[in-house]
Amino acid sequence: MRGRLKEFSLSLRRWLPVAIWAGVVLYASTSVGSGDHTAGILRTILSWFNPDLGLATLTDINYGTRKTAHVVQFLVYALLVWRGLSLAPALETSPRRLAVWIIGSAAVLAFSSEGIQLFSPLRSALFTDVILDVSGAVAGTLVAWTIAKLFCKVPSSAEASATLDPILVTSDLHLADSTDSGRAALAAVRSALVRSGALTLVVAGDFGVAVRASEWMAALRESAGEKTNLIICLGNQDHWLEHPDGSCQSPEDVRERFWRPACTTHGIRCLDFENVRLPGLVISGGYGHYDFGFRDPDALVDGALPDTVDYEQGSFRGLIHPDAGRIPGLRGEARRQLDSMSRRLPLANGDPVLFVTHTAPFDRLLPERSRQSEAAFFRAFSGNESIGRLLVTHAPSIALAVSGHTFHASPLVRVAGIPCISTGSCPGSPKFLLFYPSNKSVKIFI
Ligand SMILES: [Fe+2]
Repeated sequence: MRGRLKEFSLSLRRWLPVAIWAGVVLYASTSVGSGDHTAGILRTILSWFNPDLGLATLTDINYGTRKTAHVVQFLVYALLVWRGLSLAPALETSPRRLAVWIIGSAAVLAFSSEGIQLFSPLRSALFTDVILDVSGAVAGTLVAWTIAKLFCKVPSSAEASATLDPILVTSDLHLADSTDSGRAALAAVRSALVRSGALTLVVAGDFGVAVRASEWMAALRESAGEKTNLIICLGNQDHWLEHPDGSCQSPEDVRERFWRPACTTHGIRCLDFENVRLPGLVISGGYGHYDFGFRDPDALVDGALPDTVDYEQGSFRGLIHPDAGRIPGLRGEARRQLDSMSRRLPLANGDPVLFVTHTAPFDRLLPERSRQSEAAFFRAFSGNESIGRLLVTHAPSIALAVSGHTFHASPLVRVAGIPCISTGSCPGSPKFLLFYPSNKSVKIFI
């Protein structure tokens, strides 16, 4: 509710001045703005300066003023639309698309204004006036562009990277595990942001059940503060439905139904939907899931060897993985995750990438293999080996790969030249690291 109110208030700030000015333009198109009316006003004003003003001169001045007014009112309109589109967070940043929006909407307003004059007894609609109006909008767009160019300094690449430093990364906040551990995790986030001075926070999944996504994102936003640039990917627990009711058939449905609106409402970017491009850095990734590539082929449970079907079902000899029965349509998810990351990763176009997944892409980020039945079985549910292979093919551009999920933080290691690390942690005590895009360095920050 609070998020909706905030969105509404931002829309008002963007568009109320535009709506009021468009109303003024349309009102002036009625008989109120007729030539006789404006001539009367001009006569009153000019007679103070020259009481002997002739009718012919007054007619000429009235004509010139009216035509100038067409240009000026649309110049003002263009500046107001530009302001609305550029107000943070900017709806449009490409100069070409800004111009299309401004001039296109000005043309619609100009035709509407002349349309009103068609039905006003004291007015006459003129196509030449539409041309004057659109010229005013073009002039306004050029003025706006010049102001932006002169006064809105675009940082150089090095400066921009420096302003990003450092990026705080964590995972596994488990806000739902218990009230206390959720509160402790959020307090730790707040403290880490203050201590590090980071302006960007990346959280690699596992907040809590999907149906409460809006609640989790509101809590994260409140802890991180309004000004923090918040970026997340989802975890397996974020796909859990407490009571599957058939309305979601797949993890994709869960993301679209619960997480997309929650993230939009609270101004949080989600890597499961998009790459996030910052100056000099692209953040890419997503949930990840399990392809069972990290399972121990010799893992015995109660003396028996689980097969692929057992792993896919998430249960064997009394052991049940917590995702089983809680996430709809899991079959094929590991492949779908790989496919979506394969599509998004090349969009970085060779720029350095901070790659963030919930599940691990490399075996070296996992705890040691265990002979204990339970740990040996559940190790298979730690990550997606195929995503690791994908990363290796993009190795030169991967500045850092971060994952969580395992309940165990790993040291910083290199796999095929890729620096990678896990920030996995137990509920209530999240682990943090600081990534410095300007020199690609990592500082463990617990
Ligand atoms: Fe997890």
